[in-house]
Amino acid sequence: MRAHKDIAGFRAAVLAWFRREQRALAFRGTRDPYRVWLSEVMLQQTRVAAALPHYRRFLRRFPSVRALARAGEEDVLRAWAGLGYYRRARNLHRAAKEIVARHGGRFPRRREEALRLPGVGEYTSAAVLSIAYGQPLAALDGNAARVLARVTGMRGDARRPSNWRRLQKQADRLLSGNSRERGSRPKLDPGEWNQALMELGATLCLPRAPKCAECPVAEMCRARAAGAQEEIPGARRGRAREKVSIAAAVLLDAEGKVLLLRPETGHERELFSGMWQFPAVRVRRDARRELAARLAAMLNGASENGRPVIAEKFAALGSLRHAVTFRDITLLPFLLRVETLPPVPGARVWTAQDADAPAVSSATRKILEAALGRTARRDAALRGR
Ligand code: ADE
Repeated sequence: MRAHKDIAGFRAAVLAWFRREQRALAFRGTRDPYRVWLSEVMLQQTRVAAALPHYRRFLRRFPSVRALARAGEEDVLRAWAGLGYYRRARNLHRAAKEIVARHGGRFPRRREEALRLPGVGEYTSAAVLSIAYGQPLAALDGNAARVLARVTGMRGDARRPSNWRRLQKQADRLLSGNSRERGSRPKLDPGEWNQALMELGATLCLPRAPKCAECPVAEMCRARAAGAQEEIPGARRGRAREKVSIAAAVLLDAEGKVLLLRPETGHERELFSGMWQFPAVRVRRDARRELAARLAAMLNGASENGRPVIAEKFAALGSLRHAVTFRDITLLPFLLRVETLPPVPGARVWTAQDADAPAVSSATRKILEAALGRTARRDAALRGR
């Protein structure tokens, strides 16, 4: 797709399709830079349907950059709960503070300044500046990249840096054309164009079984002409997946309260996104014994209300699967009923029904649900006797 005629035809066909078929999404129809930025950050690792309710909720809680900047980190993480990849929320929060401190509370218009904000890279800066401010910057995400790889017939892993650069150049050319034909073409809205290309990738030009019959540019697609839609782009060569087993202890008292920690360091901290978590240990061989040893160390003298922690008292709650980026985690929750929760420095007590829940990752929620499911069944059985 080098000729200007091709580019013009491609753009016209994609835009006409987008104007007709685009999904009515809550974040469309706004050019408010804060909202655009928030939606683009949420959509980076989360599908549109899953992100939308969070987007609305987050905005109700933090309706402006200033409101977000003023908030405590714990509140921000809580509002992000369920979306995962909490680094995004931490960066968003830090960036909001910088925007208030250095840019008068408005997302900066200059690309170099935008790129200096935590969590704002090539994609996010191009997306926000094009959609909110109309700047001619091509935002290349995985969906747009797949469309361009197929249209141009580029084989290989699109994420390989050399391939990604080629796709970015292609995207730049599509957006701005070259100088020879400038002026002859109707003006393009860069934000609309970027979204159109991403939308095509998200709804028709799917990774598997693309809907070529509905595609407005099927006739211009090299991958389709070669019958190679499913092979292009090539498989992503990812990081090898790591398998990890984590045992976690739910200490539950008679009032239904559980104990949470927020360790400063350690492997387990990373696996729970640095949020409040149950006492946990990475299992090497024997989950029950290793968890008991961890608890004994934590309780500083191996006591649970003056009595030693007894591994045999742990009720195993089965195993749960949890996948995060490149890790396949097996969670092994254990329930330990105690009369009263032991005092542990820096720990926090959580009543599960508490509306004011602390910021916990979805792994911690899964563990809690396993524990409460178990106690609910037991209580029902006792009542039924
Ligand atoms: N994916 C990420 N951002 C998007 C947007 N603004 N429109 C469509 N798909 C997207």
